[in-house]
Amino acid sequence: MGLFGPKDLTGIDIGTGSIKAVRIATGGGRPKLLAAGMVEFSLDEAKANSVSTDLVYLLSGKELVSKNIATLLPGKYLTIRYLTLPKMPRAELAQAVRWESKRHISYPLEAAEVEYVVLGEKREGTVDKYEILLVAVERGTVIEHLLPFREAGIGVTAVDANPLALRNVFQRRERQGAANVAVVDMGAGKTEINIFKGAALRFSRCLETGGLDMTRAVSQQLTIGLPEAEEVKRAVDVLTPAEGDPAVAAVKARLDSIGMEVRRSVDYYKTAFREAGIERTVLTGGASLMKGITDYFSSLLEGRVELDTPFFGLSGKKSVLEDCGANAPRFASAVGLALRKA
Ligand SMILES: Nc1ncnc2c1ncn2[C@@H]1O[C@H](COP(=O)(O)OP(=O)(O)OP(=O)(O)O)[C@@H](O)[C@H]1O
Ligand SMILES: [Mg+2]
Repeated sequence: MGLFGPKDLTGIDIGTGSIKAVRIATGGGRPKLLAAGMVEFSLDEAKANSVSTDLVYLLSGKELVSKNIATLLPGKYLTIRYLTLPKMPRAELAQAVRWESKRHISYPLEAAEVEYVVLGEKREGTVDKYEILLVAVERGTVIEHLLPFREAGIGVTAVDANPLALRNVFQRRERQGAANVAVVDMGAGKTEINIFKGAALRFSRCLETGGLDMTRAVSQQLTIGLPEAEEVKRAVDVLTPAEGDPAVAAVKARLDSIGMEVRRSVDYYKTAFREAGIERTVLTGGASLMKGITDYFSSLLEGRVELDTPFFGLSGKKSVLEDCGANAPRFASAVGLALRKA
């Protein structure tokens, strides 16, 4: 048991396609997975519930609720930048980061919540500098995103950015070397590319497209409804040649544009950080469950490509792990939220 006893935290990730909740106890030895659950939003408009209804349903009767609740802010609302600033007293740093953020946001600084993480220190020429990850968000969007929680009567104790949640998972799982590793989160509505060097998150970019656009493309191509298109999409192996198969062609067209952007981000990273290459890519999020997807990305990127295992190294009930097993990569962000320290 830790100095202040074990801490019990539920991470709730409200995505575009589903809500995932994970409850973890930390504070003594290995973190313990207490409960996990997911509810998928219906693609049939007539059957779709409000987000708060689905949230209440998910949290009822699964031992998922704890006193501490952390959730994510959608990446499209966030400004995330890696920057370096000359070393200075920590008290001055917060102000300096706030001023620096002004250059990166499109709304007034007074309306901004600015957070930052000091990733490390380095020497540039003759100047000692902090390496910093800046996260900024417009206050109004935070309130808007928390509305389903308010409606459901659930108090949120912390909000986080997806790259930082994924970082918690990544740091627990990885041996701390100096490898460059990309973590690509392909959800329903977005694809987020995060690149780590050792334990430090250096690059994050969010594309506003994901698995749902693939489902929509199949729906249009085959003139079928979204729920049916979803089933067709999940049966597609992305390594199948697209010729003569309109469903595969529809999926591949969207996937190829995502793949190209992932590659472009890796190339940008290599140039900006003067790195020779990335050693590994970890795929996470629901769209990473597509058949053939790791081989698909292997052909696009250098280094090994693997599927995320966010529950790795957690102790806890086997039955919880078994329930989530097939969908494990979809839980990465919720696991990361539940592992946060403060
Ligand atoms: N077995 C599967 N095969 C193919 N696609 C799948 C599979 N399971 C889930 N998906 C796709 O994954 C997407 C949902 O993933 P996930 O739950 O990670 O998204 P989300 O977190 O709700 O969305 P976002 O992170 O974009 O806000 C959907 O587009 C769904 O079609
Ligand atoms: Mg997601």
